[in-house]
Amino acid sequence: MKAVYLLLAATAAVSVSAETWALVPKPRHVWQKRGTYHLATNRVERADVRFVRDGRLAAEGYFLDVSPTAIVVKASAKAGEFYAMKTLEQLMRQREIPCCEIRDSPEFAWRGFLIDEARHFMGKETVKRYIDLMSRVKMNVLHWHLTDDDGWRLELKRHPEVHLKGSVRPESMGHGGDDRDPRMTGTQYGPYFYTQEDVKEILAYAEAHCVKVVPEFDVPAHSRALFVSHPEFTCRGPDDPAFRSPLTMYGPQYECFCAANEDGMRFIEDVFDEICALFPSPEIHIGGDECPPNRWHECPKCQALMRELGLTDERQLQTRMTHRFAKFLAARGRKAIAWDETLSKDMPRNLMMQLWRSPADGRRAVEAGLDVILSPSCWCYFDMPQDCDRDPFQYLGSKACAVSLERAFSFDPYEGLAPTLWPRVKGVECCAWGECTWGWFDLNWKMWPRSFATAEV
Ligand code: ACM
Ligand code: ZN
Repeated sequence: MKAVYLLLAATAAVSVSAETWALVPKPRHVWQKRGTYHLATNRVERADVRFVRDGRLAAEGYFLDVSPTAIVVKASAKAGEFYAMKTLEQLMRQREIPCCEIRDSPEFAWRGFLIDEARHFMGKETVKRYIDLMSRVKMNVLHWHLTDDDGWRLELKRHPEVHLKGSVRPESMGHGGDDRDPRMTGTQYGPYFYTQEDVKEILAYAEAHCVKVVPEFDVPAHSRALFVSHPEFTCRGPDDPAFRSPLTMYGPQYECFCAANEDGMRFIEDVFDEICALFPSPEIHIGGDECPPNRWHECPKCQALMRELGLTDERQLQTRMTHRFAKFLAARGRKAIAWDETLSKDMPRNLMMQLWRSPADGRRAVEAGLDVILSPSCWCYFDMPQDCDRDPFQYLGSKACAVSLERAFSFDPYEGLAPTLWPRVKGVECCAWGECTWGWFDLNWKMWPRSFATAEV
């Protein structure tokens, strides 16, 4: 009898490639069976599915069994059940789902998507829509870049002057502008920021979509929008005209927090404290990118501090800050994430590194014993050109550094790493930097289909 059953099973089930059904990302194992399951409505409802909890299945993994009479999902937790539903939605043809067995679990715990709203504000409905879109391809981290030189987008109850002054700029660089021909808009941008009530609404929406929202407060550079209300925290002080408004033209900046200003350091901690109270994520992003040492080099107070501490290089000032904020967050049960410029010989253990420059920096971080998230710009920055003809949109960078769809697909997060180090790679994240992205329409154009590639990776 068993042999007959096995023979029947062998003829009834064939392994199919997930491309046949256009499942994105491709599940690990797909077996097609004869027949279809018919739905009563033109969408899959939870009532169509019988859920069984099975603690042996991987975190976020699921086993899906569709037969003509039933759909059964086994998962160890809510996320697996949610992803099985997403797979069912992708499998739905008219009012039918092909009978199959699917076993799936993600390679990485961190499947991230960065939205930068400091440059251009997208608004609550777009963010929610993006959470929905991300979750459909089983991405699970919204890295929310809320603060930068160009704008501050988060209401602070303890320091409202920051969002009130930092969320509005007198004008912006317009479409077609670059640093030789800025084409300023001449019109005020903002005030645009999320109230804490907005944030709570977005967090609840994200939770329902199995998405973790990780906020970024980018320090010690990329903070000109904050310096509009607190120029005293910079090396140059309140008289510098640079601090009259957030940055209106994008591009690298020298301005940063004065490393010797203890009030400034405490202020940063106070903002992180408020961020921790609002966001439940186990990780908080502390930025740390693109902080040139020029101001610290010129500043007598920073130089005196270096002499006092016996430091020989300004970068050690940044390392000191990274340690300080990682420790501050660790005391609140959170792990700090920093961009790869912060990598030094002496790194705090309780820090995660996000790599955006070359994959070689990721390898150095992993070899230094850190967990990493990989977003190398040449594969994961979708504000770079996508190398397609008749593209009406503006990008950062020239066509020579295009990130085509094929290139995004070709990213191998383990390349050059010994298999023993693979567990340190926590995941991959694609980034929608916002300098040249004004709203929903061009965000969509740039992020899709390239984000499918990241989901697949
Ligand atoms: C970055 O692109 N500056 C993280
Ligand atoms: Zn200074």
